[in-house]
Amino acid sequence: VHPGWPARVGPLRVAAGRVTLRPIRLRDAATWSRLRITNREHLEPWEPTGQALWNDRHHVTTWPGLCSSLRSEARKGRMLPMVIELDGNYCGQITVGNIIRGALSSAWIGYWVAKDVGGQGVATGALALGLDHCFGPMGLHRVEATVRPENVASRAVLEHAGFREEGLLRRYLDVDGQWRDHLLVAMTVEEVPGSISDRLVRAGRATWG
Ligand code: ACO
Repeated sequence: VHPGWPARVGPLRVAAGRVTLRPIRLRDAATWSRLRITNREHLEPWEPTGQALWNDRHHVTTWPGLCSSLRSEARKGRMLPMVIELDGNYCGQITVGNIIRGALSSAWIGYWVAKDVGGQGVATGALALGLDHCFGPMGLHRVEATVRPENVASRAVLEHAGFREEGLLRRYLDVDGQWRDHLLVAMTVEEVPGSISDRLVRAGRATWG
């Protein structure tokens, strides 16, 4: 049994509505496929390059295999693959990966949100909930994230959560067809005053429930 999986996290209220996190599930196939395909231009510049064509990779029949392997990783305590819900509706995903226990007790976190609900605090709220889950129930000590310097929206999201910049990773990841520089940001539990959700509420970016 691994702490923190499976679980529902939240809610936290932001400008767009009520944000919650829940485990991915097999019946997300149609919604996942539709949102990933209609949001291609919004997502592709920031995501790891895939082998197959975008629409093939995001065909509805791809989901069962992907979902099963992510859930299997979650059961082994190595990943946390969650759906971001806005007022109960799937609107994106947030994933914690490379969970290492012991003297490292660390992981990375990443997310995407559909364009039509963008700019209203959804990713900011989801990241706060995800981080609080990592530092709380999952008992991690450190969480890191990598982001392209050009990704202004995601950098704002990371900054709202209180991430600290640790450096620039040169040609770090194959994104959108090329090896791209990424900023490495991180935080450890000692830097979290109460919770990240609490930090957002105090900053006027969210309210409870
Ligand atoms: N220039 C300046 N600021 C911008 C811009 C822009 N072009 N676009 C958005 N912003 C700001 C917004 O004003 C907002 O800040 P504010 O609250 O201070 O006004 C912030 O960026 C966005 O905050 P949210 O509304 O919480 O974020 P949103 O729900 O729109 O999701 C996200 C942001 C996740 C980056 C979304 O646009 C997305 O999915 N993009 C494509 C995939 C992606 O980039 N994922 C992140 C990869 S990096 C990682 O996972 C660590």
